[in-house]
Amino acid sequence: SEWPGEPSDLYWRSQLDTAEEELRQGAWSACVSRVSVVSLEGSGRARWLKARALDSSAEAARDNRMLSKAITAYLDLLKMNEKLSDEKLLEVARRTIDRINFRGVYLNAEPVYRLLIRRFPDDVHYRNNLTVSFLMANRADLADEVLRETLRLWPNDRVALAHHGFVLKNHYNKLEEAVQALKKALEGDAGQANEPRFYYHLGDALLLLGRFDEAEEIHKRGAELGHFLSPSQRSLYNVPRLRSKPWWRVEDTPYEKLAKALEASWREILKEGEAAKTLYEKEKEGLKERGEWSQMDIMVRGREIPGRCARAPVTCSVVKTEAAASSCKRGQVKFSMMAAGTHVRPHVGPTNCRLRMHLGLSNTKNTYIRVDKEIRQWQLGKTLLFDDSFEHEVWHNGTGTRLVLIVDVWHPDLTSAEKRQLPPI
Ligand code: LMR
Ligand code: MN
Repeated sequence: SEWPGEPSDLYWRSQLDTAEEELRQGAWSACVSRVSVVSLEGSGRARWLKARALDSSAEAARDNRMLSKAITAYLDLLKMNEKLSDEKLLEVARRTIDRINFRGVYLNAEPVYRLLIRRFPDDVHYRNNLTVSFLMANRADLADEVLRETLRLWPNDRVALAHHGFVLKNHYNKLEEAVQALKKALEGDAGQANEPRFYYHLGDALLLLGRFDEAEEIHKRGAELGHFLSPSQRSLYNVPRLRSKPWWRVEDTPYEKLAKALEASWREILKEGEAAKTLYEKEKEGLKERGEWSQMDIMVRGREIPGRCARAPVTCSVVKTEAAASSCKRGQVKFSMMAAGTHVRPHVGPTNCRLRMHLGLSNTKNTYIRVDKEIRQWQLGKTLLFDDSFEHEVWHNGTGTRLVLIVDVWHPDLTSAEKRQLPPI
């Protein structure tokens, strides 16, 4: 099909042909200057060539400012949307959205999706993609608005139901409603919402509601569908072949020296953890059912939080003797402080790529940690090693504030290439 506003004058038409040839040859800046003239302002083809040339040039130079110019040029072309054929509108809109997402400016996709929704009102998937853009931009409020409208028109759309369940759970803490939406989305395990994260959130919402039997059923279904490594190991960012067990003996790992060194220095580590009380932050993921729980990060994603090692020099110097700990991009090193009376609900960590070492530091009496089916207790100056991608739960039924040092280490089955290349979590 044709671009709108094709100039009637032969001269300008041949200018556009030349610009098209320049685009093909990679002469992008020549192409852009040729079409950026007043006489071609009303030409769809000129706007398309300009956007394409800026786009290619941004891609070749990996230049974000150029990419922003390309996005603006595409949006300029989309201003002619009423004159664009369905085919052209789709082609331009798709590339614009793709570039907007690549650039990470998700909210800019909204007007483009609005055009698509207006042109193709019967196609629910543009609405669902707009929802996803809002969620990527951390605007659950805007996503929720779109979702409500979508579900008014398509009450049984599984993708919309699943996202609505997610938003209700994670942003509005409406767990009952979240469960209803997610259950409907996943009915019969069929359809497009059949994704690990939706099984995860449905199970998690049921756990938070204390509906353990129903949670277990969902976890079993999720594992059967291959969404989870097993019903109790439900991390979503996994390397599949790694050995899976909830509790580890440190002797069966390369981390025995680390454990011994932590244990040998535990009194100094305790002092460092206690001296930095003002730096602790309250846990905010909603994992605790009751009580007080706060943590002080020292290293996150394999990097020190600036200044923290100066506050905890002994702790850091021991951790740094083991690269699998200090460079663990999928873990943390942190102190964890828990008040008496605290209960942390059953939950799982995000990845199977780490093991979690705990060093008991204070008031460990009558405190318990369950990982999968087995409950253990901390002891002062002693380490525990477990895989927190398995469901775990913590109780402090004793007195006084319990302190532990948490040191995540790479799973011993990972290769060095994997440790280098895995994206951080
Ligand atoms: C957890 O990872 O949930 C717990 O081990 C944290 C803690 O402080 O015991
Ligand atoms: Mn945990």
